[in-house]
Amino acid sequence: MKGLVLAGGSGTRLRPITFTSAKQLVPVANKPILFYGLEQLRDAGVVDVGIVVGDTAADIEAAVGDGSAFGLQVTYLRQEAPLGLAHAVLTAADFLGDDDFVMFLGDNLIEGGLGDLVAAFERDRPAAQLLLKRVPDPDRFGVAVLGADGTIERLVEKPADPPSDLALVGVYLFTSAIVDASRRIVPSARGELEITDAIQRLVDDGLPVRASQVSGWWLDTGKKDELLDANRVVLSTVIRRVEGEVDAASTITGEVVIEAGAVVAGSVVRGPAVIAAGTRIVDSYVGPFTSIDRGCVVERSEVEFSVLMPGCHLRDVRRLEGSLLGRDVRVVRGTRRPSAHRLLLGDHSDVELAEGS
Ligand code: G1P
Repeated sequence: MKGLVLAGGSGTRLRPITFTSAKQLVPVANKPILFYGLEQLRDAGVVDVGIVVGDTAADIEAAVGDGSAFGLQVTYLRQEAPLGLAHAVLTAADFLGDDDFVMFLGDNLIEGGLGDLVAAFERDRPAAQLLLKRVPDPDRFGVAVLGADGTIERLVEKPADPPSDLALVGVYLFTSAIVDASRRIVPSARGELEITDAIQRLVDDGLPVRASQVSGWWLDTGKKDELLDANRVVLSTVIRRVEGEVDAASTITGEVVIEAGAVVAGSVVRGPAVIAAGTRIVDSYVGPFTSIDRGCVVERSEVEFSVLMPGCHLRDVRRLEGSLLGRDVRVVRGTRRPSAHRLLLGDHSDVELAEGS
């Protein structure tokens, strides 16, 4: 069983972060989203993993390397343009050969790992094994219609008028029949070779296509609010570990990770929260569901329900919440006159000022 991880998409819905960083490398609880999937593959016994990459190939390769840090053997597969998930399968055809594989979207996270799924697939070897989840907004996903006996009757990609609320989760198990099926479809209205259409081919060919519903959480981190929500869910699983320097004037409450090399002084940190090595929290409040990555400085500020990527600086900011800050972002209260907001924002930045500020 091989792994195929898709990390080629451009992440337009996470701009401006994705102008300079691959969306699969945006951190959740201070760890790139992609790493969770790689670890789950390894834990399921998959070693030989192909990663489909696009414009952000250099970033992904720098972060993952040859995969040995994860106990994997990684092969990079260059997709010339983000032309769909079935196109990614075709890009990987030589790598996959006749082997079965797990396909995992690099910006998806699922609870509980892949071990049971992989074991069940290896036992029964259907042409495809899909994961489904009931969602309130099925028009944003591939959607499945099940027959009375629970088998897949029909699949539709992003239907304007969804025939069910069962979304296709971005984790699929396939035999090599999907490669042949992907060769026999045409681009959709959005110009992509849809994996949904390729799987429909398998159904039409009368091959066994199975589906099960994910019982735990499934997170698709394509947008800011989804990413913050993923961060909230993953932080809910952290266990208190305070290894950094915390002075007597500080209070650390609940499930908080303060890595060795982090400093907390005169501050209140209420978990769940993670604070990475090399970060300083001074005279500040860090509230629940906050991840602060390496080398940040937070002074005389309050922040909660937020993600700060490495190297951020907050000074005299009251209060930041529901925010995602990219690398080396600086947000400070100025003292110059006239008293005004002074901004230097990249394309597609998004600023919401508090009332009365
Ligand atoms: C893709 C698939 C869709 C699936 C979704 C899961 O959508 O095409 O069927 O439900 O991933 O995240 P995309 O990320 O291309 O919008």
